[in-house]
Amino acid sequence: MSAQATGGAGPALEVIQLSKTFWGARVAGTRRRALIEAVRSVSFRTVPGGILGIVGETGSGKSTLARCIAGLTRPSGGQVLWDNVELTLLSREQWRLARRQLQIVLQNPYATLDPRMTVAEIVREPLANFAIGTQAGRVETMQHVLARVGLGPSTLTKRPSQLSGGQRQRVALARALVLEPRLVILDEPLSALDVSIQAQVINLLLRLRSDLGLSYIVILHDLAVARQLCDQILVMYAGCVVEQGDAEAVLSSPTHSYTRALVAASPEIRT
Ligand SMILES: Nc1ncnc2c1ncn2[C@@H]1O[C@H](COP(=O)(O)OP(=O)(O)OP(=O)(O)O)[C@@H](O)[C@H]1O
Ligand SMILES: [Mg+2]
Repeated sequence: MSAQATGGAGPALEVIQLSKTFWGARVAGTRRRALIEAVRSVSFRTVPGGILGIVGETGSGKSTLARCIAGLTRPSGGQVLWDNVELTLLSREQWRLARRQLQIVLQNPYATLDPRMTVAEIVREPLANFAIGTQAGRVETMQHVLARVGLGPSTLTKRPSQLSGGQRQRVALARALVLEPRLVILDEPLSALDVSIQAQVINLLLRLRSDLGLSYIVILHDLAVARQLCDQILVMYAGCVVEQGDAEAVLSSPTHSYTRALVAASPEIRT
C-alpha cells in the first residue's frame, strides 16, 4: 500500500521554531522549580494532502507539540501558520473558527469521549457548537459521517463504555471529521488497538484521505506502521526534531544516532 501525498491543492501547516516549557516539581532542598523544555524550537511544514508521521520515545514532546498546533496549549515561543495565517495571534473567536479546519484526536479517546453521551450525541455535538445546519440536517450529517468511518445505526444509541477500542477510535475520528476539517492531528490512534483492528483503521485513514482530501499529522510509535502510512517523518528526541524528511529515506537510511537506534529496534524496518 503506498501513501503518496496528492500535493498541490489545499492549505499547509507551517511550524516555525515552536517551543513549550512547563514548570515541573520543586527541586529537592531548594525553592526552585525545574524547567521542563517539552518542545524545543521545532520547525516543519506539511504537504497538503500528505501524511506526516511524528515518532519518538515517550516524553519526547510529541503530544505537547500536537496540542500547541491544535490550540489546546499556548506555545512558549514560535509560530504556527495555517494557510499562511498565524494561529498564535488569533483571538479566541478566530481560533474557534480556525479549529473547524484543524481537528485533533487526542491520545486516549476513551478519556475524551463523554461517558454520559451516546455516540449520536458525541458526533452531533460539534455541529451544534458551531451552529451548523438544522436539527434534521445535523442528524443526517452525523449518520453520514458515522457510516464513513464504518459504524452502523446500531452504535448510535451506545455510550463509550459499551464500545470496543476500535469503535471508540472511530467515534473520536467521526467527531473530528463531522466539521469537515482539512487537517486532522491523530495522537497515537492505533496504540490501544489489536493488530487486526490497526490494519482496518490504517486503511480507513488512507481512504478518508483520498475521499475527503484530508491531510494528517499522525503520532505513532510503530515504525512499520509509520512506513506504511506516512509520506514524511519527523523524529523527536528530548523535545527536539533530530531528523525529518521523506518517510522511506528516513527509515531506510537514518542519519541521526537516535533514529538509527529506533530503526535497529524495529525488526520489520531493519531489513
Ligand atoms: N501539563 C504539563 N505540565 C508539566 N509537564 C508536562 C505537561 N505536559 C507534558 N509535560 C512534560 O513534557 C514532556 C513531554 O510530554 P509529552 O506528553 O508531550 O510527551 P510524548 O512524546 O507525547 O510522550 P508519550 O509517547 O508518552 O505520549 C514530558 O516530560 C512531560 O512530563
Ligand atoms: Mg503523547
